[in-house]
Amino acid sequence: MVGYWVAGVRYQVSGAIFELKQVTQQFGRFQALTNVSLRIQAGERVALVGSSGAGKSTLIQLLNGTLLPTQGEVWAFGHNLSQLRTRPLRRVQRQIGTVYQQFHLVDNLPVIHNVNAGHLGRWSFAKALLSLVVPQEVRTAAQALTQVGIPEKLYVRTDRLSGGQQQRVALARVLVQNPLVILADEPIASLDPELSREIMELLCKLCVEGGRTLVVSLHAPEIAKAYCDRIVGLRQGQIVFDLPAAQLSAAAIAALYRLVDPNSTP
Ligand SMILES: Nc1ncnc2c1ncn2[C@@H]1O[C@H](COP(=O)(O)OP(=O)(O)OP(=O)(O)O)[C@@H](O)[C@H]1O
Ligand SMILES: [Mg+2]
Repeated sequence: MVGYWVAGVRYQVSGAIFELKQVTQQFGRFQALTNVSLRIQAGERVALVGSSGAGKSTLIQLLNGTLLPTQGEVWAFGHNLSQLRTRPLRRVQRQIGTVYQQFHLVDNLPVIHNVNAGHLGRWSFAKALLSLVVPQEVRTAAQALTQVGIPEKLYVRTDRLSGGQQQRVALARVLVQNPLVILADEPIASLDPELSREIMELLCKLCVEGGRTLVVSLHAPEIAKAYCDRIVGLRQGQIVFDLPAAQLSAAAIAALYRLVDPNSTP
């Protein structure tokens, strides 16, 4: 049994931080995920890999509760997300920080406002509004930017930063949120190989140092293998393997990206 403090309330979780129980996700008549079951333990670094349309982003949205499953159950911190009312759901969601491929930053504002967006789940509406005029909690924002390596960019307009720097701002925003879990949906998809490695290293460092769990969707299995300790392969909405990184073979990767299952009869 693992104990967590979430918004002053202690939650007991029997091992898993997340648990998906036979989850199916429909979008209209299209089934994006079929009967997916998965447990993620505290402190794990889990990569979701698979080709475009495999269901990685859908799975991440289910984990952070922005999507509720059509069938089955998604549990986070010992709660069935479909059964939570708005406020307790928000409390659980505060412990789950999400980073996206497109960074989701407001381009025409100085960096500090984007970093401070990490407080929005906690701040009152009045404080959030005030902060747009007189930035609040500047020291926290500056510390987060120092952690991600760009302390000098605090007051620079966000759209003047490079792609790698913008992804660092997105990570600083998550640090300010200070969640127990970081979900990252293709955080390096728009970066070149060198920047990709820098961002993956940073992401892992922030998780290890902060004792955070990481779930990251990636297109490149070799990156997944290098930075994560567990790899979940998705194809057409189903889990085709769930392996320790060290056991991920070239054959498993090749089969994952093959359009036709090599075991199926023609
Ligand atoms: N809101 C939606 N409405 C309809 N179909 C959707 C919706 N979201 C996802 N899908 C479909 O579900 C399938 C899985 O999508 P998802 O975005 O999870 O894939 P992915 O593995 O993240 O792909 P990519 O690597 O391209 O990001 C796709 O076929 C997609 O078109
Ligand atoms: Mg996606």
